[in-house]
Amino acid sequence: MSAVPSTGPGEKRSVLPPDIRARKGQAPLVVLTAYTTPMARQVDSHCDVALVGDSVGMVLHGLPSTLGVTLEMMILHGRAVMRGLSKAMAVIDMPFGSYEESPEQAFRNAARLMAETGAPAVKLEGGGHMAETIAFLTRRGVPVMAHIGLTPQAVNTLGGYKVIGRAAEGDRVMEDARAIEAAGAFAVVLEKIPVGLAARITQSLSIPTIGIGAGVQCDGQVLVVDDMLGTFTEFRPKFVKRYANLGQLTDEAIASYAADVRARRFPGPEHGFPDLLPGKAS
Ligand code: KIV
Repeated sequence: MSAVPSTGPGEKRSVLPPDIRARKGQAPLVVLTAYTTPMARQVDSHCDVALVGDSVGMVLHGLPSTLGVTLEMMILHGRAVMRGLSKAMAVIDMPFGSYEESPEQAFRNAARLMAETGAPAVKLEGGGHMAETIAFLTRRGVPVMAHIGLTPQAVNTLGGYKVIGRAAEGDRVMEDARAIEAAGAFAVVLEKIPVGLAARITQSLSIPTIGIGAGVQCDGQVLVVDDMLGTFTEFRPKFVKRYANLGQLTDEAIASYAADVRARRFPGPEHGFPDLLPGKAS
């Protein structure tokens, strides 16, 4: 295991899990995903948390779901993101299959994520059935952000990327929220749950809720950065607000480059190197 120092003794990143927990009921927490150093630098300027989400598998690696994401992928992207952060806190997703088997398996892999990236926290999906694991991790120095409601790693058992928690199912989501809070999670992502339920969960928990498709009453919001920038267009959930269309801008820029190359308009004289420098004889 190659350790990557993040903070030395006495040194402190400006945002750590207890700071996020203390933000309950304060100004909304701003969270975006990041998978690379340049994006982490940009997220760092404006956000409280950079989430190295396992959505990286779909967004950057072209996978059909998050199920094929590996621990090694999360470590690689986690290290890249850590190099771009100076104040926002990183949270790294535990990929499918790296934590569900037992609390011991979860600790082993969470410890690798933290030691090999320097990130101060992990996120894992699941409610009541993951409470024992969350308690095991938090008691051993692994701060956990939980993730309930629509949990994309369970897409096959859920039967699709559905709204979770309508009608009677809402009681179960509320129970999940209470269980993960009691287990020691420092925050919880609420994905694709009805807005009234999200508001009730937010009111009844002492830890911050971070919504994605869960309405404006949550203590914070998270989006996949490529969704809001328009660079991931495979599908567009209703909860995404598109703040830019960088996918289209990129397409136009590449088309202009291709046209210039084909017409020999690029490179121009200003992009080349003369055989002799002016005024210098060889
Ligand atoms: O993987 C991810 O990007 C996430 C967010 C959608 C919350 O888990």
